Amino acid sequence: MIELRGVEKIFGAVRAVDGLSFTIARGEVFGLLGKNGAGKTTTIKMLTLQLKPTAGEIFFEGKPIRGNEIFIKSLLGLVPQHLNFDQDLTVEENLELHARLHHLKKFERRARIDELLKFVELEKVRKAFVRELSGGMKRRLLIVRALIHRPKILFLDEPTVALDPQVRRRIWALIKNLKAQGITIVLTTHYIEEAEALCDRVAILNRGRTVALDATKNLCAGKSLEEKFLELTGASVG
Ligand SMILES: Nc1ncnc2c1ncn2[C@@H]1O[C@H](COP(=O)(O)OP(=O)(O)O)[C@@H](O)[C@H]1O
Ligand SMILES: [Mg+2]
Repeated sequence: MIELRGVEKIFGAVRAVDGLSFTIARGEVFGLLGKNGAGKTTTIKMLTLQLKPTAGEIFFEGKPIRGNEIFIKSLLGLVPQHLNFDQDLTVEENLELHARLHHLKKFERRARIDELLKFVELEKVRKAFVRELSGGMKRRLLIVRALIHRPKILFLDEPTVALDPQVRRRIWALIKNLKAQGITIVLTTHYIEEAEALCDRVAILNRGRTVALDATKNLCAGKSLEEKFLELTGASVG
């Protein structure tokens, strides 16, 4: 479904992403695991066409990005690392705005918004301003906002960062439900337990490189990210 070939991103003197090559299969949950600064967000931004790679190529369903931007964008949904709502709009208005950006017709917008609010149990706060919501509610809204146009691939950049364990589990259940609906999911995290709970396969990133890529059960079982890094790199990674 997605193939990366030698993908690099250089910002001035920083090699944020340093030659990633792997494929992500249809229907899988693929994790990019790594510490802060490992290059996860930069990778997600390249995969969602927000940044152009300095070198290398990315293919979606066998098609290169160049010349296929509109088709590829229609496949993608993005849940960004940082909340970027208009906090002075209501829950419903935020979704309405997004639905319009995706050119959904009026009757489709209404039905889709109702369905999504029900899916994440936010119907009761549909008239509330986003600034009034709890952290967990905002995350759930961010996720359904990305689903408005029924993307086939959903990217989630640190979907549970700064959430308490109970709320985190609720987001995990939501992600599992999306997988069961057949959506291909690419998520980043710096929590090894999150990768273990959700991902079929995981790429561990360190300084923009893949230091390991395997089925989650082969890679993460019973280890912390710190231990795993020590094992893989034989040194402290700071
Ligand atoms: N726009 C940018 N300009 C310069 N450096 C950047 C930019 N974006 C990210 N970086 C650097 O690239 C590296 C990887 O960042 P990022 O992809 O955000 O990592 P992660 O999401 O894994 O925490 C870091 O060293 C970061 O400081
Ligand atoms: Mg990041």
